[in-house]
Amino acid sequence: MIATKKDIFGGSLLAQPGRGLKGELAVPGDKSISHRAVMLGSIASGVTEVTGFLEGEDNLSTIGAFRAMGIEIDHHKDSSVVVIKGKGMRGLAEPADVIDAGNSGTTTRLITGLLSAQPFFSVITGDSSLRKRPMKRVVEPLTLMGASIAGRNNGGNLPLAISGRKLKGISYKTPVASAQLKSALMLAGIFADGETVIEEPEKSRDHTERMLALFGAEVKIDKNSVRVQSTNGLNGCKIDVPGDISSAAFFIVGAMITPASSLLIRGVGVNPTRTGIIDVLRKMGGSVELQNERVASGEPVADLLVKTSPLKGVEITGTELLPAIDEFPIICIAAAFAEGATRITGAKELRVKESDRIAVMSEALSKVGVRNTELPDGIVIEGMGSASIKGGAIESHGDHRIAMSMAMAALRSDKGIEIDGAASVDVSFPGFFGQLDRVRVS
Ligand code: S3P
Repeated sequence: MIATKKDIFGGSLLAQPGRGLKGELAVPGDKSISHRAVMLGSIASGVTEVTGFLEGEDNLSTIGAFRAMGIEIDHHKDSSVVVIKGKGMRGLAEPADVIDAGNSGTTTRLITGLLSAQPFFSVITGDSSLRKRPMKRVVEPLTLMGASIAGRNNGGNLPLAISGRKLKGISYKTPVASAQLKSALMLAGIFADGETVIEEPEKSRDHTERMLALFGAEVKIDKNSVRVQSTNGLNGCKIDVPGDISSAAFFIVGAMITPASSLLIRGVGVNPTRTGIIDVLRKMGGSVELQNERVASGEPVADLLVKTSPLKGVEITGTELLPAIDEFPIICIAAAFAEGATRITGAKELRVKESDRIAVMSEALSKVGVRNTELPDGIVIEGMGSASIKGGAIESHGDHRIAMSMAMAALRSDKGIEIDGAASVDVSFPGFFGQLDRVRVS
């Protein structure tokens, strides 16, 4: 990459063309698992030691929130080790100021569940993107459990002001398959009287279920339903966070769409609720091999060997996309360099992520010369086959996953792609551009 630090933080960065991705790489820790480790570690008794922690801005927001509630958390800059001195189920203290969740929807929604059950008052807010994102999906069921939550737009948007209460368990069918919603209710449920049952239309990622069990809570799972009981205590433990498959996804696609690639990505989490990207890419003709499969801290892990692959356009449904929900932008890039058209539907949720990812990807693809049609719940992309794109300038709208996806598209461009707002990659993948430069064959 030719960008200097000033270029990155000053605004735009010119992502370079490349003939392939070669060598070995380890991606930073899983964002979802890193959040949950801090949250459960804080309300457990005793010490929780986390290795492989993702030092992204979203996860630092979670650490900041629990420090503000009186939890001692040792974490040094540029270290993936975090030590949390948990104070037990009744150990959180009223924060002295508003909690700032930055850009992080996971911090906000999961903590809202937890705060609803604490015997104190708290306010949570975030950046301009987060303040636009829907919160009613958590506020409504938490209110049914007895929580008292006020917020902008009748509880629909941040800031939310929460007066914690003694909650009661409920049986709730969620209107959307969302791990953030399910987890918010589980974190409220472990404090509530009786049982909390959450049924989803389809099964979302299950990291909270797995980690709660690791900390000693009783979690019952039956297809798309989860049950938790009020618990007297969680026990601190050691957590080894695997690499984030959502971060690996950029490199997987980058390797597939370039002619001279062979890339080994070590230590990636391959929880079946997250491996939709592998299934989708295999359906498109992509070659990815799982090696050295193992389990760490209750989560499946593997090394991924990826090779250059001629891709073909396919139909992708909402059910196929759910376990790849964060991979929509990079799937669009795979589609852009496939032979034939790809049609993605059932993806309405993508409109309320860090940006409206359907609109933003459609705009970015058009700007670099990839023909596409936006649908209300998805997109149709006309693949370029083996042709390359000229390149150009795009706006990431401050969305980390858009910036990283377009950096991979730049590999197949003549002139590179200028990415505005490239610093957003720090939300989930600090060091992304350095890693890309290291494995890129120019
Ligand atoms: C996450 C759940 C997903 C995902 C987000 C992380 C989590 O959000 O998009 O990046 O850690 O629970 P939704 O629950 O809104 O689908």
